[in-house]
Amino acid sequence: MAAGAGLKEDIQESERLQHVMGADLERVSQRVFEVTELSYPVASSIIHEIVLAGGKRLRPLLVLLAGRAYDYSERFDELITAAAGVELLHIASLVHDDTIDRAALRRGKPTLNSVMSTGATILVGDFLFAQSAMLAARTGDVRVVSVFASTLGQLCDGQLLELFDAHKTDQQIETYIRRIYGKTASLFAGAAEMGAVLGRAPESDIQQLRQFASEIGLAFQIQDDIFDLTRDSEGLGKPAGNDLRQGTVTLPTLLFAQRTASGSADARLLDHVVSGDDVADDVVDELIDRIRSSGAIDDARAEAQQYQTLARERLAVVPHADTRDLLGSWADQALASA
Ligand code: IPE
Ligand code: IPE
Ligand code: MG
Ligand code: MG
Repeated sequence: MAAGAGLKEDIQESERLQHVMGADLERVSQRVFEVTELSYPVASSIIHEIVLAGGKRLRPLLVLLAGRAYDYSERFDELITAAAGVELLHIASLVHDDTIDRAALRRGKPTLNSVMSTGATILVGDFLFAQSAMLAARTGDVRVVSVFASTLGQLCDGQLLELFDAHKTDQQIETYIRRIYGKTASLFAGAAEMGAVLGRAPESDIQQLRQFASEIGLAFQIQDDIFDLTRDSEGLGKPAGNDLRQGTVTLPTLLFAQRTASGSADARLLDHVVSGDDVADDVVDELIDRIRSSGAIDDARAEAQQYQTLARERLAVVPHADTRDLLGSWADQALASA
C-alpha cells in the first residue's frame, strides 16, 4: 500500500515538473529542431526523427531549473538557447556513441549509423557538435562557451577511457567512476553550471549545483549500466546487453569480477564474453544470469543510491523553495527512468 502511495506521489511530481516546465521545454525542442535542418534528405529525416522522439530531455531541464533558481528573467532567451545547445551536444554525442557501440536503435528509432556509412555518420555528428557550439556562442556569455568547450573535452576523455579500458576486468572502481564522470556526469555538471551562471547565481551556489548534478549524473550512468543487464531493448529503446558484447566493463560487471575466483568457470565465462570476439547470444545471456544472481547488481544499486543521497543534500543552498522542489523531482525523474 505504501509503495502504491509512493508511486502516485512520483507521478504527481513528474506531472508537476512537466506542467511547470512544459512550455519552456517546447521552446528548447523547437530551437533544436531548427538547427538540425540539414540539406541531406536522409540524414535530416533520421536526425529529426530522433529529435522528435524527444528522449527524457533531462539535461535541458537542468539548465532551465538551475537558471530558474536565481534571477533569470533578463536572460530568459539565453537560458533557452543554452538548454538547446546542451541537448544538441547530448544528441551529437549519441550519434558518435552509437557509431562506436554499433547500436542500431536510439529512442526507439533507427540510428544514423545503421543506415549510412561510418564516415557520413561521423561527419553528421561533427555538424551537430558545431551547431551545438553555435548555440552556446549565441548566449553571448563567455563562461557558458568556456563550460561548453571544457565539457566537450571531458566527454571525449570519458569515451576514450572507455575504449582504452575495454575488455579489462581488473579495473579499479575509481577508474570506472572517472570514466563515467567524463562521458556522462560532466554534461550534467556543465548543464547546471550554465543555467546557474545565466541566472547570475553566487559562485558558491554554482559549485554546489555542479556537484549536485555531477553526483546525479554518476548515479544515472550506474543505473543505465544496470539497465543494460536487467531490461530488454524494447523497454529501453536502445539495444540491451550491448555493453558486455562491446567489451565495456561497467560497475555491476566489475563488482561481479571482484567476487569471482581467478581461474573459476565464472571468470573464464566473463573473460570470454568481454573479449570482443563474436560471442553467441546464449553465452552472453548465461553471463548476465550469473551477474544477476551474484548480488553485484544490488551492490551497484547501493553505490548509485549513495551518490543520490549526497546530491540531494546539496540542494539546501537553492534559495527559491519551489525550484528546489522541482530540482528534487528532476533528480527523482532522472533516476526513475534512466
Ligand atoms: C543516454 O542518455 C546516454 C547516457 C548517458 C546513458 P539519456 O538516457 O538521457 O537519453 P535520452 O536523451 O533520454 O534519449
Ligand atoms: C553513454 O554511455 C554515452 C554517452 C555519454 C554519449 P552508453 O554507451 O552507456 O549510453 P547508451 O547506453 O548507449 O545510451
Ligand atoms: Mg552506447
Ligand atoms: Mg548504456
